[in-house]
Amino acid sequence: MNKQIDIKELLDWYIMAGVEETCGIMPCLGLENANLDIKTNLPNNQISENTNNQPKPSFVSVASKNAMALCQKAQSIDDLKDILQKFEGCGLKKTAASTILGEGSIEAKIMLIGEAPGADEDRIGRPFVGRCGQLLDKMLCSISLNREECYITNVLPWRPPGNRTPTDEELAVCLPFVKRQIELIKPDFILLLGKIALKSVLDTPESVSRVRGKWFEYDVEDKKIQVLATFHPSYLLRSTAQKSKTWVDLLRLKNKLNEKN
Ligand code: URA
Repeated sequence: MNKQIDIKELLDWYIMAGVEETCGIMPCLGLENANLDIKTNLPNNQISENTNNQPKPSFVSVASKNAMALCQKAQSIDDLKDILQKFEGCGLKKTAASTILGEGSIEAKIMLIGEAPGADEDRIGRPFVGRCGQLLDKMLCSISLNREECYITNVLPWRPPGNRTPTDEELAVCLPFVKRQIELIKPDFILLLGKIALKSVLDTPESVSRVRGKWFEYDVEDKKIQVLATFHPSYLLRSTAQKSKTWVDLLRLKNKLNEKN
């Protein structure tokens, strides 16, 4: 017998199983096999038919295109903050307590980009204020900088539930907000903290260990921003042996900064 799965029964089951939140755009863990047209009562062949034989635009591309268009309207970081507060294109917003864009000087020469707010950041509503933030402050201090002189942001403005790794969908939707911050701040240097920032901003699957120490360029209008990647402070909290390599990266950054001044 071809027993169709009833969506309500399935959701009831998930709730009984302890699932408390939905946060992705695409169904997963069983929902993909459910009869998703149940709401409309249409036979399967009527809803899934793709008459042009063209791939259907995914939710991701629609949401990220929408984000791109919205971000382009922002003429200042404050505009971008307003747009982000109203933006509903990413499921992470539903589970996070705070929406966190960057903070620091809008005239900063250095922009730091991390991954996503953690529990402390989500509670307080500011980037890098927990244990990672304290380490970041020390890292900056080691090259005679402080966070007020920099602009600090994350690839994701919302904390993923339980600090899980963000999905590609979530990264794609949030990327326009990071890119627009880069365009608006136009720093001389960007320091990418960790793999997610590296992957998103430089669009590379390379690991931090392979690219750290190398300079990259990121073009914004007439300006070439110098980009360096290094280990994320949360990784350094776990792998203290890598701190010395990060120190070398920070010195590289400081040297370039000195050359420029
Ligand atoms: N980790 C990040 O990547 N960003 C934060 O703001 C805090 C921890």
